[in-house]
Amino acid sequence: MTIIDGKQTAATIKAEIAAEVALLREKGFRAPHLAAVLVGHDGGSETYVANKIKACAECGFTSTLVRLESTDENPLATERLLEEVDKLNCDPEVDGFIVQLPLPRHIDEQLVIEAIDPAKDVDGFHPVNVGKQSVGLPCFHSATPAGIVELLKRYGISTRGKNVVIVGRSNIVGKPLASMLMQKGEQGDATVTVCHSATDNLATVTRRADILVAALGRPGFITEDMVADGAVVIDVGTTRVPDASRKSGFRLSGDVDYANVAPKCAAITPVPGGVGPMTIVSLMSNTLEAFKRNHGL
Ligand code: GUN
Repeated sequence: MTIIDGKQTAATIKAEIAAEVALLREKGFRAPHLAAVLVGHDGGSETYVANKIKACAECGFTSTLVRLESTDENPLATERLLEEVDKLNCDPEVDGFIVQLPLPRHIDEQLVIEAIDPAKDVDGFHPVNVGKQSVGLPCFHSATPAGIVELLKRYGISTRGKNVVIVGRSNIVGKPLASMLMQKGEQGDATVTVCHSATDNLATVTRRADILVAALGRPGFITEDMVADGAVVIDVGTTRVPDASRKSGFRLSGDVDYANVAPKCAAITPVPGGVGPMTIVSLMSNTLEAFKRNHGL
């Protein structure tokens, strides 16, 4: 059984990006610039954004964090957030930016996503990028699915002709991953099934998977009986579960019952250290791509 090391793979890719940036700097270009907008103080979002900023430094990028306060007593007006998005859309020194999700409940996320210039949408969430991806045109690919595809590639795990079963149909993981893996080509050519809360006989479907992707956000949901011997299992779950033995008071739990599932797999991603670091690295790749387009490279 192979443990697919996303942390190590991400470190390798960050070093590749940093080397490319160093060459660009030698040629006199400025550093690629990623901005992140963070609304409020959600614990998970704070950590994700801090990790993205850290990755920027590791890749030789400039980063800007735009913090906007929002509390129950004093909720951020959607117009104020849209103003900030517009500023970033118009700033020629910013190659790409993200608005960290989830946003407070009173803000319409889709409205905000659609306000981002698709040419700066390095999350790949704008419908223009989603649509281009689905018809196989060049675009920014959604970071988590792109990270999974890259991880499989770097571990020499082909998807061609394989039964890939994805549990979870979110706009940011399940749907775009299905779309990527069904495309023609080396990193696609899979037979993809997407399961969700209304799927009948879920275990019967998941047991048919050569490659099983768990992306539903329910800790330990995928149990041993749901996985075929020799399957490749990709765990996208990162739920904070209370753990009094940790200083932070919580630990990250994947969607797979790792201890019991891992022994029967050909390969599996751990949580943490599997898909998570690859998501951030995809964001860095997209930002470098945005920078190149911005400079006609
Ligand atoms: N929240 C959870 N994952 C993501 C992501 O990839 N991008 C953004 N913007 N928010 C997220």
